[in-house]
Amino acid sequence: MTTGILKEQGNESRAALLPSHLKAITSLNVKVLVEKGTGEGVFTPDNAYQEAGAIIASRDEVISGSDILLMVNPPDDETLKKIGSDKKIIIGTISPLEGREVSDRLKGENLTVFSMDLIPRTTRAQAMDVLSSMATVAGYRAVLDAALHLPRFFPMFMSAAGTIRPAKVLVLGAGVAGLQAIATARKLGAVVEVFDVRSAVKEEVQSLGAKFIEVEGATEDKEAGGYAVEQSEEFRQKQSEMIQDHAARASVVICTAQIPGKKAPVLVKKESVERMVPGSVIVDLAASTGGNCELTQDNKTIEHHGVTIIGQSNYPVTMSIDASLMYGTNLVNFLKLLIGENGELNLDFNDDIIKGTALTHNGELVSDRVKSILNI
Ligand code: NAI
Repeated sequence: MTTGILKEQGNESRAALLPSHLKAITSLNVKVLVEKGTGEGVFTPDNAYQEAGAIIASRDEVISGSDILLMVNPPDDETLKKIGSDKKIIIGTISPLEGREVSDRLKGENLTVFSMDLIPRTTRAQAMDVLSSMATVAGYRAVLDAALHLPRFFPMFMSAAGTIRPAKVLVLGAGVAGLQAIATARKLGAVVEVFDVRSAVKEEVQSLGAKFIEVEGATEDKEAGGYAVEQSEEFRQKQSEMIQDHAARASVVICTAQIPGKKAPVLVKKESVERMVPGSVIVDLAASTGGNCELTQDNKTIEHHGVTIIGQSNYPVTMSIDASLMYGTNLVNFLKLLIGENGELNLDFNDDIIKGTALTHNGELVSDRVKSILNI
């Protein structure tokens, strides 16, 4: 069996795998083809992949010669055209919950697509969870970005020129990105307050040295696989007022609240931004799904009433090496599930991780989760 790594297109600096990942694949008796230039964004020359056991090839050779194609982003139309009716497996971050067009594009008649962002959030699948890996990068980077834009220090300071009080950081949503943002802000010396609708995260928040602000009456659903669900109008109103009070006293707000497959909940209204101290910074990680701040613009940094609002949707590309290291490790762990002892393909759809991650199989949309969330 042969696995191919395609060079990412456009504004993408990550690579699906780094040379350090290859040994784990070649030791499964799987050949690895790597498209020339794959490592450019991670400062890794072709010969590093070659020395790690890969064969460097052109894009066409990788596409035609591989049984499994590994990638970060979904394949473009040209790549799909080249795959044509060949029997192949694609593994990448496909984002099928963004809309049914995404899966429709990938219904090549003999194509099986695994979307790494569908990996179930279970203990066994943790080592394959690319969303958690990328959210870790984003949470860390968001706080650094906020610190660089803030015209103040994060830590408390006592100097001959007086005492500087620590910055107050408000984190909305304490999932993977939020927890990483809390940890990073605390390491920089900020005082951190946190809102979330899942009471399960309270202890984790507190163990990082942050204050968990509770709003009574949140709707929780244990069946939602560790994710949040939509809230009642009454709760949203109450939460919004409390967030407004805390945001007015914060220098930085990091927004990370999301409900998979839905528009991000709006938690910071225009009036709340206008009550914030000029010079404050909001970083909205949920920008690509509408943002938690009403004024956020995706992939833009704007200013409103002196408050900087950063809507950066792709922090992982700004940290390509470690983002690729984590992504590649997640991919390798997933590949190990698909490949048998002698390097043969072993697609066991009774395995909950394989079943949960499969988007299409032989051209058919097979993901129950995508079908149910998108009402297909
Ligand atoms: P997650 O699902 O682990 O965490 C989201 C948290 O928000 C959950 O703890 C949830 O309970 C909470 N939440 C949901 N609704 C809420 C509400 N109304 N009020 C308060 N809390 C609420 O998600 P993860 O993996 O941490 O990702 C967070 C966000 O970051 C997502 O929007 C994701 O798309 C985005 N992201 C952005 C990146 C970037 O570069 N900008 C990179 C990776 C992720």
